[in-house]
Amino acid sequence: MSPAEKPVDQLTQEEAAEELARLAAEIAKHDRLYHAEDKPVISDAEYDALRQRNAAIEARFPELMRADSPSRGVGAAPSATFAPVQHAKPMLSLDNVFTNGDVVDFVGSVRRFLALPTDAELVFTAEPKIDGLSMSLRYEKGRLVTAATRGDGTTGENVTANIRTLDEVPERLPAGAPDMIEVRGEVYMRRDDFIALNRRMAESGQAFANPRNSAAGSLRQKNAEVTRSRPLKFFAYAWGESSEPIAETQFEAVRRLADWGFVVNDLMVRCRSLDEMLGHYRSIEAMRATLPYDIDGVVYKVDRLDLQERLGFRSRSPRWATAHKFPAEKATTVLEKIEIQVGRTGAMTPVARLKPITVGGVVVTNATLHNEDYIRGIGNTGQPIREGRDIREGDTVIVQRAGDVIPQILDIVPEKRPAGSEPYRFPHVCPVCGSHAVREEGEAVWRCTGGLVCPAQAMERLRHFVSRNAMDIEGLGEKQIEFFFTHPDPALSIRAPADIFTLKKRQAASLTKLENIEGFGEVSVRKLLAAIDERREVALSRFLFALGIRHVGETNAKRLARHFVSFGKLREAVERARSPKGKGDPGNEEWREIVGVNGIGDVVAEALVDFFAEHHNRDALDSLLTEVSPVDEEEVGEVSSPVAGKTVVFTGALERMSRDEAKAMAERLGAKVAGSVSKKTDLVVAGPGAGSKLKQATDLGIEVIDENAWFERVGASL
Ligand code: IVH
Repeated sequence: MSPAEKPVDQLTQEEAAEELARLAAEIAKHDRLYHAEDKPVISDAEYDALRQRNAAIEARFPELMRADSPSRGVGAAPSATFAPVQHAKPMLSLDNVFTNGDVVDFVGSVRRFLALPTDAELVFTAEPKIDGLSMSLRYEKGRLVTAATRGDGTTGENVTANIRTLDEVPERLPAGAPDMIEVRGEVYMRRDDFIALNRRMAESGQAFANPRNSAAGSLRQKNAEVTRSRPLKFFAYAWGESSEPIAETQFEAVRRLADWGFVVNDLMVRCRSLDEMLGHYRSIEAMRATLPYDIDGVVYKVDRLDLQERLGFRSRSPRWATAHKFPAEKATTVLEKIEIQVGRTGAMTPVARLKPITVGGVVVTNATLHNEDYIRGIGNTGQPIREGRDIREGDTVIVQRAGDVIPQILDIVPEKRPAGSEPYRFPHVCPVCGSHAVREEGEAVWRCTGGLVCPAQAMERLRHFVSRNAMDIEGLGEKQIEFFFTHPDPALSIRAPADIFTLKKRQAASLTKLENIEGFGEVSVRKLLAAIDERREVALSRFLFALGIRHVGETNAKRLARHFVSFGKLREAVERARSPKGKGDPGNEEWREIVGVNGIGDVVAEALVDFFAEHHNRDALDSLLTEVSPVDEEEVGEVSSPVAGKTVVFTGALERMSRDEAKAMAERLGAKVAGSVSKKTDLVVAGPGAGSKLKQATDLGIEVIDENAWFERVGASL
């Protein structure tokens, strides 16, 4: 039976994904025929049945909801539904912690960063973490002008018309509010409202999985009148850009939001000690089930805004706040099969295929098993886990889901192990290409040695290459990559990154035309080729990230791009770098430059050297560079400050700030912070006890100043 013929409750996850793709295409086709061409070919009832099936599958597998899902908009392409909006200040996420010990560490890290003595008072606010979707509301001259979803944190979707239908979002702010302010908070749905709504929707065969999905789905309606009919609420708890400071503390700032007419959460308190923070966490946890809305933890924020300012941000989250999550929800099910997935670096990851089970409102069918040792009951430092119990196919397992994290298998139920079951034998060959696999000394991972010969690796690398935060080629998603990768016709096949950019030429010279192939219309082919051409010039940091070099994630790619500015310079340094052999060998000048880039250490440097040493990679890069030009990263000198664009090294003891704060401050002022002194260093800030770096600086004739002089120099720019 094909997935299209199966009842929704009998679909496996893969089949469901396939069905959602089919339905999205099918519904889009009928929308076009109906709206654009005025030529419907099916009855309204048949059309409704398609949409209902789509909604029912999404309710069962909310994690599979597609970006182009028909339920996201009524009969229109989603990208056309909501225009992009740039947030004036990025919308960040929060770090998660799970145990009391983690909270102790968090408070400790804040104190350390601020170099606060242990007895100095440090106040935090504590408040529930609402399980909804975050929203940024921009007010100018007291009027709501734009409402935007978080999106990727930098650019969200313009949902102003929909937000205006919420009673709890004021249209105007009273006199006294700043001339311009982005008010931020959470759109959510109460549990009782969600249940009532689902009951109503069930009559037409639709349903949402949980209140959060329901809030998101209700907000992202093309027709704002649909949103108006949905019981959405809003809690304000933060703000982005503001034309003037609104308070001196978090607590007072939220009180002002309340004064302006926003609903704020009345469970927010100020805590003067760790005990008070943990106490408030426990009391909120105890209330959790009786609260009318879903929460998934408690958020702690440093109360004083001047300290928040000093603490600043890491790449995705503020240093001054964290989310203390509630323990994850658990459930018991049967592990039907263990399968091996091969990633783009060849890592062979075992995945548990589970008998579908609902955990905390979401259907779970897969869980990660991490690696061979984890299956055998051995932790990553060699200690026994699950009291040494192994995991076998057929076992009954306890599954846990924490927030959006991939489900984990916590333990097995030994009494339920089927008689005659065998320990799992981890394969020593790659299940995709058959190459032999190796597990290196001291590593937990088996890796396929097939390199680019292994289709799984090559395909995963391509998928990564085109993905949103990498080259971001629209219309070239996972499915399309699989299509091109497996296509036998040389005019259509894409096996390496450069092939993407030669597709147009090869197409032009061939008789096989993409637009004749099912699933690719003339318009979509034109768009795809245009999207590819658009990426012939791309920022260096994206390009570096797209290459998929081990340990070079987005943050490291940015660091390298900012330091080296051009791809040529980076490549030259890496190709010349010689990594230290044994203690005492400093490597060479190039090696020291790479490891001296702030945040880049031996591991990343080693990975870069390895990548460029591999001739496959150099060849692939050379071909790619004939098609694509990485654009030099903007010089960091944009910020105007006396140290902008300078490379600074801090050494010795600092007395007015911690080393981390010093680094963060310098970076905020547009400087590059390096860990070691080289010819490229512009300034060394030396405190008491400075040793070899100070000497190197003096030998090289580099300017050296002390901490007080540093503050004098940058003081005005802070
Ligand atoms: S503060 C810079 N406070 O949690 C951080 N966030 O995991 C600003 N959230 O995107 C967020 N309740 O959508 C904050 N009381 C609360 C929250 C809260 C829920 C959400 C928010 C954020 C996500 C981060």
